Amino acid sequence: MKDSFGREIKYLRLSITELCNLRCRYCMPEDGVCKKNHADMLTAEEMIMAVKAAASLGITKIRITGGEPLVKRDVISLCRSIANVDGIEEVCITTNATLLKDMAIPLREAGVSHVNLSMDTLDEEKYRYITRRGELKDALEGMEAALSAGFDKVKLNAVLIGGFNDDEIPAMAELSRKYPMDVRFIELMPMHDGGEFGQAAYLPCSKVLEYLPEAQKLQQEGVAAMYRLPGALGRIGLISPVSAHFCGTCDRLRLTADGKLKPCLHSPVEYPIKGMTQKQMAEEMKRAILSKPACHDELSATQRSNAGRSMNRIGG
Ligand code: GTP
Ligand code: 5AD
Ligand code: SF4
Repeated sequence: MKDSFGREIKYLRLSITELCNLRCRYCMPEDGVCKKNHADMLTAEEMIMAVKAAASLGITKIRITGGEPLVKRDVISLCRSIANVDGIEEVCITTNATLLKDMAIPLREAGVSHVNLSMDTLDEEKYRYITRRGELKDALEGMEAALSAGFDKVKLNAVLIGGFNDDEIPAMAELSRKYPMDVRFIELMPMHDGGEFGQAAYLPCSKVLEYLPEAQKLQQEGVAAMYRLPGALGRIGLISPVSAHFCGTCDRLRLTADGKLKPCLHSPVEYPIKGMTQKQMAEEMKRAILSKPACHDELSATQRSNAGRSMNRIGG
């Protein structure tokens, strides 16, 4: 269905857990999240009901997010059930890839079509630093597994952090030459508690193009401006939520693991659906879609997001 600004809402980002096996410094506090009362979180059955409600309103694309979705025990069967919902054409997942090595094929067989991997550096030490505990080797093995499992598309997301990975832009971009994989650079969004990065950490995506003068411009795809390096198998994507937000073409709704519909990533407005029937869920989704704001407030190093939650509790 269309929202009140004529945007067709086709895409639901469904966070299936707030938990994660990593602790990326811009996303989560060191000590993790306080584990919620189980009874406050959506059950797998409620998640499937929510997807059916979304499909009844014309949503065709589901992206499974987290936290880290692969830490959830029933993730494969959940993906299978979601892929089987009438009207759902694409089931995508966003993962840090560290658990993907053994799960890529089962996910593919369960009907997942698209995989986005998060990897902000190709240096082992820096990977340990930014994730506070991860091993780059695990993520790289997950990436290889995803690339050979036959997904329709694999993309790599790297959050740009000035003074941390700007010097790695060319090396990360090179991955798109070697693999049939899009490499997307994302501007760091100043979440309310993503505190330790100062002004210098907020690099605009235009910085990427300074490093890649040979990149050829392609058509915009979703939230990303697309480019290709000469002869490359994959493409480069620039996601600029801070320097050039894409609210005008936003086609998404979010559902958090604790059952709150979020019409906008950077707004605190939420609609609870925990405990509802499928029909009631569909009604709330309509209300949420119709209340989607035209645009979120400005974001900058000093003007932080109004989201009211950390990224791992939203789902990115
Ligand atoms: P595709 O379906 O492959 O286009 O994926 P996607 O870009 O929608 O999803 P992904 O989970 O890979 O997210 C990539 C980055 O875009 C993350 O940093 C998200 O937080 C950010 N992002 C996704 N949706 C929105 C949005 O509605 N607004 C803003 N500002 N950022 C978003
Ligand atoms: N700014 C930009 N991207 C972020 N992500 C998590 N936190 C932020 C942030 N503050 C990214 C992750 C993942 C995607 C779902 O969101 O790295 O690729
Ligand atoms: Fe986990 Fe992703 Fe957040 Fe990193 S960015 S802590 S991998 S949810």
